[in-house]
Amino acid sequence: MTDVQQELAPAPPLKLAIRGVGKSFAQGKAVVHALDQIDLDVAEGEFVCLVGPSGCGKSTLLSIIAGLETPDRGEVLADGQPVRGPGRDRVVMFQEHALFPWKDVLGNVEFGLRFKPNLDAKARREVARFYLRMVGLEAFAHAWVHELSGGMRQRVALARCLAPNPRVLLMDEPFAALDAMTRERLYGDLQQIWSARRKTIVLVTHNMREALTLGDRIVLMTPRPGRIHAEHVSGLPRPRDINAPHLAERAAELTAELRRALGPDEEATR
Ligand SMILES: Nc1ncnc2c1ncn2[C@@H]1O[C@H](COP(=O)(O)OP(=O)(O)O)[C@@H](O)[C@H]1O
Ligand SMILES: [Mg+2]
Repeated sequence: MTDVQQELAPAPPLKLAIRGVGKSFAQGKAVVHALDQIDLDVAEGEFVCLVGPSGCGKSTLLSIIAGLETPDRGEVLADGQPVRGPGRDRVVMFQEHALFPWKDVLGNVEFGLRFKPNLDAKARREVARFYLRMVGLEAFAHAWVHELSGGMRQRVALARCLAPNPRVLLMDEPFAALDAMTRERLYGDLQQIWSARRKTIVLVTHNMREALTLGDRIVLMTPRPGRIHAEHVSGLPRPRDINAPHLAERAAELTAELRRALGPDEEATR
């Protein structure tokens, strides 16, 4: 196999174990308990969605899994090894992805490959094109970021995250800023990419229907302190349609459950 072919074979997905994780932040004189006693397992190739209102610690948990934040208590194990910092096997995609305006689309995806010494410039280009094709943007390889719609930018961001062939994809409200129609198309594409590439994915959202459309398992979180309230196995057949009545019904049930857990002052989901 050439380096490029080797590079394009999906990396084996990673197993995550989150054990007794706690994290507090000082905010002036107050202490915010962002996470308290979080225990969660994510199997190889599993798609887990974390759902909860703002402030329940979803982003903090994702950052700890990514190794961008250290927990005060507990640990995260990736294939049994404690996470001690960021690693190339775990990539984070944010709501607003910082694409470079001075690079074209292909250049932005190639940036994801900067740590691949085995690939020369031509090979990097080839790998980047492969991922651009995967997100349906091959025809826009030489477009500039400002020429793209919001949905296309998130596709480029997704291609850039996929390019280094990570074993875990951590997604923090990646679709929250997009309009419903664009979002729904991306759900279809992400489901397809996930099943073709068998990645472990942890996705944060406060949209229950999004979580039910994408996830194998839905983890409900509540704030102050950030805790896991419950976990639900989706069990719905794939591919899923966010507009299917049974999915909406299930989402309403889970939202009601989360509302009851939150009490009257909190907004459960959008
Ligand atoms: N770097 C930080 N400094 C101080 N407080 C923080 C910091 N990061 C998060 N927090 C606080 O921790 C809580 C959880 O935040 P976050 O993980 O961003 O929640 P979510 O993503 O669910 O909205 C919030 O109350 C937030 O204000
Ligand atoms: Mg957040």
